[in-house]
Amino acid sequence: MSWSDLSDWWVAEIEDDPAYEAAVNPMLLDVLRPDAGLTYLDLGCGEGRVMRALKGTGAVVHGVDLTPALARRAADSGPVVIGRLPDLGFLRDDSYDGAFCVLALEHIEDEGRLFAEAARAVRPSGIFALVINHPFRTAPGATPISDSDGETLWRPGDYFSSGTTLEPAGEGQMLFHHRNTARILESAAAVGWYLERFVEVPHHELDDQAGIPRLLACRWRLLP
Ligand SMILES: C[S@@+](CC[C@H](N)C(=O)[O-])C[C@H]1O[C@@H](n2cnc3c(N)ncnc32)[C@H](O)[C@@H]1O
Repeated sequence: MSWSDLSDWWVAEIEDDPAYEAAVNPMLLDVLRPDAGLTYLDLGCGEGRVMRALKGTGAVVHGVDLTPALARRAADSGPVVIGRLPDLGFLRDDSYDGAFCVLALEHIEDEGRLFAEAARAVRPSGIFALVINHPFRTAPGATPISDSDGETLWRPGDYFSSGTTLEPAGEGQMLFHHRNTARILESAAAVGWYLERFVEVPHHELDDQAGIPRLLACRWRLLP
């Protein structure tokens, strides 16, 4: 299914989802540390949940998203281009102070090109912030399992591979691109992103999965 088929489902899904306020937005703000007056690009902005959170900081935010119905909603919080990542050819070099990508990298096949395009569109010493579902959690075949004592353990699946999985989404399925953490870090480093922060957290609600990483966030600075 395409994101356009799933746009109504996604809007309903995150409307009441406490994870954004409790975990996703605080993580992004923690690694991005946006400065008032500086301009940031939201890569895969969806319906604008994160753009809205950033507005309160005084930062200026522009968005890019593939899905017109979502981009239209996000446009309440700033200019949004309908475009297919990783292509950012419509942007001039060095036009942003920073870029960020929240829960969208998993849907982009060529993460190396996304890091390269962001490195071109962001000025030297600018920032790239990322929040993703932890690759340990989204690896093909990865799943929680309960042992006979009721303890939750983790089956790691095929963590070390790269590839795609189809995951349930709304009435259909959505394609996810899996790559392990080393590949993400190497893809970013290869085009000049210097890692400044690396944060892993468990699920904010599930105490029995407190030892299992749920979200991963990074902050990189572009080498001058
Ligand atoms: C899980 S949603 C996250 C949206 C937003 N970042 C948030 O956290 O609310 C993933 C978003 O990525 C967008 N997307 C998926 N593939 C894309 C691509 N190749 N180029 C641009 N956007 C894409 C979808 O349209 C969707 O809005």
